[in-house]
Amino acid sequence: MKLKVKNNIDWVGKIDWELRRFHGDEYSTHKGSTYNSYLIREDKTVLIDTVWAPFAEEFVENLKKEIDLSEIDYIVANHAEIDHSGALPLLMEEIPDTPIYCTSNGVKSLKGHYHKDWDFHPVKTGDKLDLGGKELIFIEAPMLHWPDSMFCYLTGDNVLFSNDAFGQHFASEKMFNNLVDQNELFIECMKYYANILTPFSPLVKKKIEEFVSLELPLDIICTSHGVIWRKDPLQIVKKYMEWSDNYQEDQITIIYDTMWNGTRAMAEHIAKGISLEDKDTVVKLYNTSKSDKNDVITEIFRSKGIVMGSPTINKGILTSLAGMLEEIKGLRFKNKKGAVFGTYGWSGESPKILKENLEEAGFEVIDEGIKALWNPDEEALKKCVDYGRSLAKRFT
Ligand code: FEO
Repeated sequence: MKLKVKNNIDWVGKIDWELRRFHGDEYSTHKGSTYNSYLIREDKTVLIDTVWAPFAEEFVENLKKEIDLSEIDYIVANHAEIDHSGALPLLMEEIPDTPIYCTSNGVKSLKGHYHKDWDFHPVKTGDKLDLGGKELIFIEAPMLHWPDSMFCYLTGDNVLFSNDAFGQHFASEKMFNNLVDQNELFIECMKYYANILTPFSPLVKKKIEEFVSLELPLDIICTSHGVIWRKDPLQIVKKYMEWSDNYQEDQITIIYDTMWNGTRAMAEHIAKGISLEDKDTVVKLYNTSKSDKNDVITEIFRSKGIVMGSPTINKGILTSLAGMLEEIKGLRFKNKKGAVFGTYGWSGESPKILKENLEEAGFEVIDEGIKALWNPDEEALKKCVDYGRSLAKRFT
């Protein structure tokens, strides 16, 4: 079950083809995922990360086929989140005295999860572990993705073990970036960045600049999810630099929910107005009650602006939009415009509520939006088209 990465480095992780939900139920994984663990056998033997707990037994059994566990000199825990540390308790039952190298926050997280007093060795950026000729250099990477996260770099082979950074939830038997469908790969990379790393974009940029300043040669990036970046590994680093810099494409995304299709009709006519005014801008519509929220978030990430619509219900908005607003408040998108709309029968608060929430989420909402009484008639729909035309001019 191992896969040779380079020289004395083997992948010993788990491909999880079945995974459809991650982080509890928070993140959709249409294409499964992988939990990447790596075994380095130089004069000293190191295991980098493990796998998610449901696969702990399988992981340890497979590892035993590969190596006498007592030959593992060091364990490196780049990140304490359960998808990478989940097999540690079972592994440590077999080799309880093996030292674990992680950040000081990693010690807190691992103790917090497993309540064990293993032989922790906290490390900082620049600390090194001598493997006999080659060295592992540690680089703290707080908030990519938790406070404890770190990278490590193997000299001689020029391999960066980046844990969550540069990863994607993408199961593949091929496991190397040059052997998989490139469109599928980059869709999953962007989805992963948009849904997980967006709030930490300033740190992503800083960390990449810090790594570049070390002037370490880079042949391979071994992530903890998805493919190993063997061919042109800098391509994903460059993408992260783009994505972390207030990323947007020429796209407007209309996000709505509807009860009796009045708000849907408004959405479609706003879309028509945008397209009539600007032939180049990509316009996409998503009904939040029927769409995968993580896919919608990825579309928001790509957009220069979003238009959000809800009918008014009980002086509020529909719950699928309330949930989406909660998500995007946490993600803290930057440099994006917003607009609002909705139908109503009597009180009509929905555009105002949407506007307030979008502003709280950091969007620049361009005006008070538009609303239509009951089911929009021809005149109301023409106003939607005109509103779409005005958005095309103002969402720049
Ligand atoms: Fe893949 Fe933050 O764990």
